[in-house]
Amino acid sequence: MTRQLPDQAVFSAAGPLRGTAHLPGDKSVSHRALLYAGLAEGTSRVRGLSDGDDVARTRSALVALGVEMDGDHVRGGRSRLAEAERSIDLGNSGTGLRLLAGLAAGLPFLTILEGDRSIHRRPMGRVVEPLRAMGAAVDGRDGGRLAPLVVRGGDLHGIDYAPPVPSAQVKGAILLAGLAADGVTTVREPVVTRRHSEELLARFGATVETEATTGGGQVVRVRPGALAPTELDVPADPSQAAFLAVAACLVPGSQVRLERVYVGPGRAGFVEVLRRMGAAVEVVARDATTADLVVGHAPLTATTVGGAEVPDCIDEIPVLAVAAAFAEGTTRFVDAAELRVKESDRVAAVVAGLRAIGARAEELPDGLVVEGDPTLSPQGRVDAHGDHRVAMAFAVAALRGGPVTVDGFASVATSWPGFADTLAALR
Ligand code: S3P
Repeated sequence: MTRQLPDQAVFSAAGPLRGTAHLPGDKSVSHRALLYAGLAEGTSRVRGLSDGDDVARTRSALVALGVEMDGDHVRGGRSRLAEAERSIDLGNSGTGLRLLAGLAAGLPFLTILEGDRSIHRRPMGRVVEPLRAMGAAVDGRDGGRLAPLVVRGGDLHGIDYAPPVPSAQVKGAILLAGLAADGVTTVREPVVTRRHSEELLARFGATVETEATTGGGQVVRVRPGALAPTELDVPADPSQAAFLAVAACLVPGSQVRLERVYVGPGRAGFVEVLRRMGAAVEVVARDATTADLVVGHAPLTATTVGGAEVPDCIDEIPVLAVAAAFAEGTTRFVDAAELRVKESDRVAAVVAGLRAIGARAEELPDGLVVEGDPTLSPQGRVDAHGDHRVAMAFAVAALRGGPVTVDGFASVATSWPGFADTLAALR
């Protein structure tokens, strides 16, 4: 059972942040590592998984389907998987629900996927349509556009598909289904999204190829086949590192080291944005896709974030908007309409939160404008709208003043139950 957090938390300035932070395992990698280990015939070992509720739900979903879990060890295999007796509850996890839909599409029985109120409002047509095109029988509320989803899988054929929105979850779901399809499954991405699905499929022995296309896109192809068990260490989550990186940027005298952060394609966009804003971020490479980030305080200036850069930092925009509130000048986040269909409408929630602490911000249909003020002393009460990233972003804002009361702080348990403790340990 994931740790319960208080639903209301109060944050204030408490001096510089210094030292090395303990970050949780990457959430996107954790979901995929568990799902692939669940399909691989034999025992895999996955160390350093995210300890949030979202990943715990994916773990329970796999257990309900017949996978055995014992600490780091996952005993899986397609032959072990069988119809779950009950519907599977993915809680607040959009990644969990959408990826499970892809897995279920390849399983020759009925799977019912549901979640909390937030997830039942989020768009599911984006995964349902391609899975239906592959031959799965998928239904849901509103003609299959909303969860719960009811999936009767099996007898799939490969498709050649270009998702209408750039989405690593959609790509991941289609590739999971493609493992059980006849023939090759192709996903075309004009804008490349995080590559964990294809990188980890290769680690688990799948026949998967990627090909760069002109204009910065890529094509991913997967062939049907069994996965082989493997051992892996989940790197630290860049989306969580971003909260501490912005905290260090904002609080004078700070210097933090964030270790073994995944900085592969599609995830390190926030580092580039912060550097453009004048942040002091050193990236010390460990291997091809991980690095230590060393971040110190620096005065920030405004920037514009838009276009192909957006998928690379979509989850970090709430905390980047907080950074922008303390920067010199006006920062614009555009081409980011996807923010409106995350765990909350993050455009509305972040703009309301910024105003509630005394900052100036406006909504755009596809993003937000933040008028920065380096002298801002934030104070007030923010509604996180049950959204972990909004809650953590405003806890970070409070470090330049406060008190800031965050309502809905319990949502932080979905991705990082130890966030407040980690922040406190840096003082
Ligand atoms: C994720 C992809 C992104 C991201 C989410 C995690 C993933 O969503 O916002 O937090 O692990 O694939 P979309 O695929 O909807 O863009």
